[in-house]
Order: sequence, then C-alpha cells, then structure tokens
Amino acid sequence: MPDFAPKKSLAPGADDPAAPSRIVSGAAIDDDARLDASVRPKRLDEYIGQKRVKENISIAIEAARSRGEALDHVLLYGPPGLGKTTLAVIIANELDVPIKTSAGPLLERKGDLTAILTALEKKEVFFLDEIHRLQAAVEEVLYPAMEDFRVDLVIGQGPGARIHPFHLNHFTLIGATTRAGLITAPLRSRFGIVHRLEFYEPEDLLIILHRSAKILNIQMDEAGAQEIAGRCRGTPRVANRLLRRARDFAEVRAAGRITREVAQDSLRMLGVDEHGLDEVDRNLMIALLDKYAGGPVGLGTLAAALSEEEDAIEEMYEPYLMQIGMLDRTPRGRVATPRAYEYFGRELPKRQPRLF
Ligand SMILES: Nc1ncnc2c1ncn2[C@@H]1O[C@H](COP(=O)(O)OP(=O)(O)O)[C@@H](O)[C@H]1O
Ligand SMILES: [Mg+2]
Repeated sequence: MPDFAPKKSLAPGADDPAAPSRIVSGAAIDDDARLDASVRPKRLDEYIGQKRVKENISIAIEAARSRGEALDHVLLYGPPGLGKTTLAVIIANELDVPIKTSAGPLLERKGDLTAILTALEKKEVFFLDEIHRLQAAVEEVLYPAMEDFRVDLVIGQGPGARIHPFHLNHFTLIGATTRAGLITAPLRSRFGIVHRLEFYEPEDLLIILHRSAKILNIQMDEAGAQEIAGRCRGTPRVANRLLRRARDFAEVRAAGRITREVAQDSLRMLGVDEHGLDEVDRNLMIALLDKYAGGPVGLGTLAAALSEEEDAIEEMYEPYLMQIGMLDRTPRGRVATPRAYEYFGRELPKRQPRLF
C-alpha cells in the first residue's frame, strides 16, 4: 500500500512509533507492524467476530459487485486495534480492486488530497485513516468528491482565477476513526455505510489467538489461550501482542508451550492484571478513587494529575475502563463505579456521588 507524504505526528491510537509503548495499548507499537502483516486476515471469512458489521458489509459488497459499481463510502469507527484497517483492506480484496492509503494528519494542503483523488482508478478503494484529523479546508475537498465524484480545480490566480470542475472515477472512500464524535456532520452524512466496531467477546478472541498461534507456529493449550483472551481488553491487536510475549516467556522458561501458568506468569511480569489493566489504567483509577474521591472530576484535571494527554485518556484508556464497568463519563466529569471501589479494595462511600 503506498503511503502519501512524509510521516507526521499521528494521534494517540494511530500507528505512531512515538506513542508510549504500553503493552496493552490498542495502538500499534514496536514490531507490531511486522507481526500484524503475518496474522492480519485478508478475506472476510477470516475476519473473526463483528458479526453484524460483517454481514452488512458482505451484502453491500455483493450488491456493488453484481451492479458493477463502486461500493458506497464506508465509515468505520471504534477504539484502536479492533480491526478497522484490516477490514478496509479486506473490503478492497473482496471487491477485487486496488487500495490507496493515507491519513488525516498527512494531508496538509488541499493539493495533497486532490492529487490522490484525481489519480484513483475506477472502483478503487481510498482508505483514509484518522479521518477526524483532516483540516477543515482539506475536508471540504472531500464533499463534492464523495457526492458527485468531482473536485473543483482553481486555475490561475487573483481576479482572473477560474474554477474548473474535474471529474473523478467513481471510487470508494473508507474512512476510519477512533473518535466518531469529532467527525463533522457534513462529512458523516456523505457516508452510506457507517459501522462501529465493538470490543471482541472472549470466544472470538480465543479463535483469533488460536489462528495466530497456528500461523506463527506457537504451541499453546486451551487454558493458556483463555488466560490471554481474558487479559487483552477485547482487542485483537493486544491479544496478538500478548501471545507473542507469552511465547517468548514460554521459550525461555517453559519448553516453548503456552499453558495457563506460563500465560499468567508472563502477563504478571508485564504488569498486566487479570482484567488486562496495566500500570497506567491502575494509576488513573487510583487517582480517581483516592485523589478525587471517586469523582466527578473533569478530564483536564485527571489528565494533568497523570501527566497524560487528554486525547490519550479519552481514546485509549477510558473506552475499555467503561466497557468493563469501572468508570463512567457523566456531564460533570469522570466517576468511579461501585465495581471500581470493589476491585481496588476501597470502601464505597455511604452517599454515592450524584451522577447527573
Ligand atoms: N476481526 C479480526 N479477526 C482477526 N484478527 C483481527 C481482527 N481484527 C483485527 N485483527 C488483528 O488485529 C490487528 C490490528 O487490527 P487493525 O485493523 O490494525 O486495527 P485498527 O485499524 O482498528 O487499529 C490486525 O493486524 C489483525 O492481526
Ligand atoms: Mg488502523
């Protein structure tokens, strides 16, 4: 897949080499890229879980194929590591069309985007990652491109400048974002197919783990797989990463086979607890519980207390803490749930903080 323009800073959660190397981060870190390539599913039937999304996409692909048309534009959103990029590549494979890839922060000027759009082939897929980070002026180029397959080229300068409509081949835009809330209404309305990817169920993670173990030639028994499935935050990318770390541990300490004990020991060594929480999550929850009496506390305050970016907290840490019912977002700020009090061994205050 060709990359456009030099690499620039990406949002937390993007495949950003400078992102903190958290073992349980959904974002790609260190040598994930190499591993991802070998275990990343290439066809829809290898894409585990996300049943509803898969069914819908499969029907849309079938319909587009039989009409001989480009697939409608697709917006995929959800936390990092759940399979947005994978699904985009699969869609192109299933449509049997080429795919070009770029990302919001890489397109600095209108011309960067126009250059890509005007070079797209008929029915080609254009995958635009981190689409919520497009600059407003660049985003405006997308509107007529998505709706009428047209870009307006400005020819000349000053009073003599003319607008020249340029007709594009009918293509499919696949946008991906970790922050659906930051997508503007005019952009969102131009996607015909919009899907949110969910955290994966343990049984789907087990299938993913066994599949990856087979591809990577890793010996792992069912109990070992269950242990990893329970600690990977419902996230395939994390599952694959923990699998690889457990394999290292197994090779050095346990004759190469990942058993429950090996999985437990290796994850303990990595500071990942039985819910998949790591140091950062624990610090966040403990700050919320102890320093701010369970909340509500504003995101900015919490971020400052932890010396973390607000974006990172919202995008990477909170979605999973909310998913497992430890943290709630309320209009007045973040609050710890009774479950969090119990898990961290804190006494539940007599009077619950007012939530709304
Ligand atoms: N549905 C799935 N089935 C199997 N493996 C998956 C699935 N979704 C993601 N993965 C694995 O997780 C890795 C990360 O997925 P990716 O598509 O890069 O996530 P995102 O783009 O949402 O951050 C992939 O390389 C792949 O190995
Ligand atoms: Mg991605």
